[in-house]
Amino acid sequence: MNELINEKIIAIDGPAGSGKSTIAKALAKKLNLEYLDTGAMYRAVAFVSIKKNIEIIDEKQVLKIAKEMNFNFEDGICLVNGYNATKEIRGPEVTRVVSAVAAMPTVRQEMVDRQRLWVEKKGGGVIEGRDIGSVVFPKAKVKVYLTASEEVRAERRIEQEEALDASKVADSIRKRDEADIGRSTSPLVRSEGSIEIDTSLMGVEETIKEILGLFKWN
Ligand code: DC
Repeated sequence: MNELINEKIIAIDGPAGSGKSTIAKALAKKLNLEYLDTGAMYRAVAFVSIKKNIEIIDEKQVLKIAKEMNFNFEDGICLVNGYNATKEIRGPEVTRVVSAVAAMPTVRQEMVDRQRLWVEKKGGGVIEGRDIGSVVFPKAKVKVYLTASEEVRAERRIEQEEALDASKVADSIRKRDEADIGRSTSPLVRSEGSIEIDTSLMGVEETIKEILGLFKWN
């Protein structure tokens, strides 16, 4: 990868509900950069696997799906093999199995390759996920690690998903965190050189301001 491109990359990592998507989208708009939600890519693989009745423990089959998948994410619309799966990739069926898909090393490698290609094609971007600063773009100009308290993260997801059972949402987040932090390939970690921001008590504008204050953009 062209080293200069690192100057145009903002990597945002953190657990579910820490504010990554909201902040990454707003930053991309402000800096006139493209935005990539890498969680949506793992969700899309899980979505197609479910549709094809593939056992999520069968890494070979899931990898085949990942390799053949046509994924397009633009303006908040997620097209998977030409089908608008924007809503379904966030649904409970996908959410239940996505961590297992994301724990598969060969599937991760395929996704990482695609993310790097995407960035080269776009000439940089704001990329959010779990391993962006640690594995995908360790030399990104800006690396942010967002956090928030468990309560706040659950509240945000309840709002987003219009869920009614708060304890179920909190439980699902906890399980996903455990899986994402505990897996052996590219676990969620605060990467070296990243700046940690706790968004529990911060609004979007305030968080953006803090991030923009960390570096000079040109
Ligand atoms: O951010 P999200 O909830 O849409 O992510 C879905 C799942 O994918 C979650 O279990 C974490 C995983 N993921 C990952 O392992 N690496 C990424 N770069 C992005 C998401």
